[in-house]
This record gives sequence, structure tokens and C-alpha cells, in this order.
Amino acid sequence: MKKIGVIIASVRDGRAGESVAKYVADLANSTGNGFEYKLIDLKAINLPLLNEPYPAVMNNYQYQHTKDWAKLIGGFDGFIIVTPEYNHGYPAAMKNALDYLFVEWNNKPIGFVGYGYSASGARAIEQLRQVLVNLQLKTLWKDVLINLFTNSKDGIFQSNDFVDTQIKDLINRLEATFK
Ligand SMILES: Cc1cc2nc3c(=O)[nH]c(=O)nc-3n(C[C@H](O)[C@H](O)[C@H](O)COP(=O)(O)O)c2cc1C
Repeated sequence: MKKIGVIIASVRDGRAGESVAKYVADLANSTGNGFEYKLIDLKAINLPLLNEPYPAVMNNYQYQHTKDWAKLIGGFDGFIIVTPEYNHGYPAAMKNALDYLFVEWNNKPIGFVGYGYSASGARAIEQLRQVLVNLQLKTLWKDVLINLFTNSKDGIFQSNDFVDTQIKDLINRLEATFK
């Protein structure tokens, strides 16, 4: 069974990201076809700011936290990044987590769920695309964009039929890359 990691890009206290990512993973597990979707929580993993002496492309990891992170990411066949927009970009914790590894990301499909206010996370996702090209991740077209004005209550994500349809479509397209 193929494993897809649903990455929670935000790590701050009270983040909305956890509720969005859990919803995406639950919906994917109930509607997906022969795939297992698992949360990857950057807050729980708690990587330090990148402190490896060698760039990840050299594949010479020194620290146990990097080896653990490499083993975790290496065990997934594809990803969905669930990202908020911070100052028109994506969270620093997400960039840090990406920079730690190289070969473990290579050639795997990746979809995006963005959320925020003015642009629903679209600008954060566009920034991610620029970086992921160097990691040779295969970015999917057509992102899920969630507006928190209309789709959250007390900081917790609330879905609706339109968003559900977008998430299911992303899941279909992600799974289709394996056929
Ligand atoms: C540091 C910071 C910067 C933000 N900048 C933006 C922004 O540029 N555009 C936007 O739509 N929302 C922005 N927001 C609002 C976030 O989209 C909203 O707080 C969202 O819940 C953040 O995700 P999180 O709760 O998972 O951390 C910002 C929030 C924070 C904390």
C-alpha cells in the first residue's frame, strides 16, 4: 500500500493547520483507493534550525534528528503539504524541514492545500513551488485553497461541499500519478 504524508506546515500554538490537515487526511483515508494517508506534524518532530555541516545533496547526515527525519520522509511515496500564508509566504518551519533532506524528497508527487485570509494561501504555495523544483518533487496542478473568513470558526477549520470536492479532486489526481 502506498503511503502519502500530509504535512502540517505550521507549528505555532493554537494553529489552524492541525484541524485542516487532520480533515484532509481523514477525508483522504475514507475516499482514497488503496493509499494510506498519515499526518506528518512538524511541531511534534521539532527539528532544530538546520545544523547539518554538509548540504543534504551530499547525503552525509551527521545528526540523529536528521537520520530520523530522513527515515520518516524516505518511507513515504508522496505528500500533501497543508500550509498557511505568513506574510505572503510559507512558514519557516516548512522551509527548514525541506532543507534537511534531498534524495528522500526526489521524484515524489506532491499536492497542496493552502489556507489564509486575503489570498487563501495561494502565495505561500507559489513560493513552495519555486523551492520544490530543486528537490525534484513532482508538484501537482490545481491547489486546494481555503479562505479562513468563510471556512473557520474560533480558529478551527470548517469544511463545506465546495472544499470537500476540491480535496477529493486533489486526492484523485495525486493517486492517479501512480497509475
Ligand atoms: C506571522 C503571520 C503572518 C500572516 N500573514 C498572512 C498573510 O500574509 N496573508 C494571509 O492571508 N494571512 C496571514 N496570516 C493569517 C493566517 O493565515 C492565519 O492566522 C492562519 O490561521 C495561520 O495558520 P496557522 O493557524 O496554522 O498558523 C498571518 C498569520 C501570522 C501568524
